[in-house]
Amino acid sequence: MRRKLAAGNWKMNGTLAELSELGALQGAAGGNAEVLICPPVTLVASAAANAGAIAIGGQDCHSAASGAHTGDVSAPMLRDAGATYVILGHSERRADHGESDALVAYKTQAAWAAGLTAIVCVGETLDERESGKTLDVVGRQLAASLPDDVTGANTVIAYEPVWAIGTGKVPTTNQIADVHGFMRSALIQRFGTDLADTIRLLYGGSVKASNATEIFAVADVDGALVGGASLKATDFAPIVDALNN
Ligand code: PGA
Repeated sequence: MRRKLAAGNWKMNGTLAELSELGALQGAAGGNAEVLICPPVTLVASAAANAGAIAIGGQDCHSAASGAHTGDVSAPMLRDAGATYVILGHSERRADHGESDALVAYKTQAAWAAGLTAIVCVGETLDERESGKTLDVVGRQLAASLPDDVTGANTVIAYEPVWAIGTGKVPTTNQIADVHGFMRSALIQRFGTDLADTIRLLYGGSVKASNATEIFAVADVDGALVGGASLKATDFAPIVDALNN
């Protein structure tokens, strides 16, 4: 009952020329799994105008709808440009811009108010994993980054261990299963089973065609948030196919 989601995060990569990748991805999109690309904000409007079966999202938004915030972009602006999703609280935002769980929660509310689905990211650092704090960290981030009015339609959660992002290192399927099972339980505890069961849980961090099938077989993994391997349709399409199978 949860529709699988293959989400691509282009990060700070891509110019107009790279939007041709969306055309090349159309064959893989339109199946059972939903396909989403989050390009840099400069490309959101052009991408949305040529998106076909692909959903388009932003990579961040401000917590306010408008105002004196030089360089920032608001959720209504992303919506106006044709986005339907926005990634929030990515570990690169948390690290590079000092984003706190509380700020992520405010941004999530701003996204909802604009009609965007928020993809809220959580995940531990290597130090935290090695000192046995993974579930504490993920539990705390989940509790404090999610406002109360979560639904399966307005929110997706992405578990992205910081040490797995862009490193080629991937947790074992048991490690992924532990965290995803823990997140599902935490959501059930807070929101009740009926609601919690509608919320999609993505895994992110060095997902590629060669490991996608194994990761997607893990219980409570409803798709992936993919960085590097989402830039080229030839890399991303097999990941989408693995989710469709
Ligand atoms: P990666 O990035 O797939 O390049 O590891 C994932 C992410 O940061 O969302």
